[in-house]
Amino acid sequence: MNYKDYIADIPDFPQDGILFRDVTPLMADGDVFKKACDEIIAFAKEVNAEVVVGPESRGFIFGCPVAYELGIGFVPVRKPGKLPRETVSVSYDLEYGSNELQVHKDSIKKGQRVLIVDDLLATGGTVDATIQMVKELGGVVAGCAFLIELAGLNGREHLKEYPVFALMSYE
Ligand code: PRP
Ligand code: ADE
Repeated sequence: MNYKDYIADIPDFPQDGILFRDVTPLMADGDVFKKACDEIIAFAKEVNAEVVVGPESRGFIFGCPVAYELGIGFVPVRKPGKLPRETVSVSYDLEYGSNELQVHKDSIKKGQRVLIVDDLLATGGTVDATIQMVKELGGVVAGCAFLIELAGLNGREHLKEYPVFALMSYE
């Protein structure tokens, strides 16, 4: 089985010049979805993760099964105006645009080992913003896990200090 057979490549989405790597075919196949999550779970065990943090929205899809299987918590990082209690926020740039992310201020305990899970690493803006917030709350980034890394966009430049897992890489 080749994971890349379950990624749909969509040219010019959501805007001209972007080759969108769509993970929904992988999610739709129960065996492949489970196998992919199991690989992230193995990484989470290696880095002794104590909580999973996932950015909206695709980070929820892969982060939650990992947290559930390990019996640890899941903390959502959300786009602005979605979280009802006190938050910390960071603005960041995307491959296609910019945004702001927020997390509840009391969501991570001081010294807690955090695994950040998302579907895809592109420029690294999202994971960088997430790391900044985890640190601001006193968490320790134990590692970062992705299904896909777009290596040509150099997102790993933001992650030199941390263990990184990526199931697939594209130039
Ligand atoms: C996508 C993807 C990652 C991020 C990666 O999310 O799921 O979170 O972009 O890009 P970066 O490394 O350049 O930051 P998007 O913000 O499009 O949101 P979505 O998951 O809600 O579609
Ligand atoms: N997020 C940022 N860049 C992306 C891409 N090329 N495909 C899917 N999600 C993305």
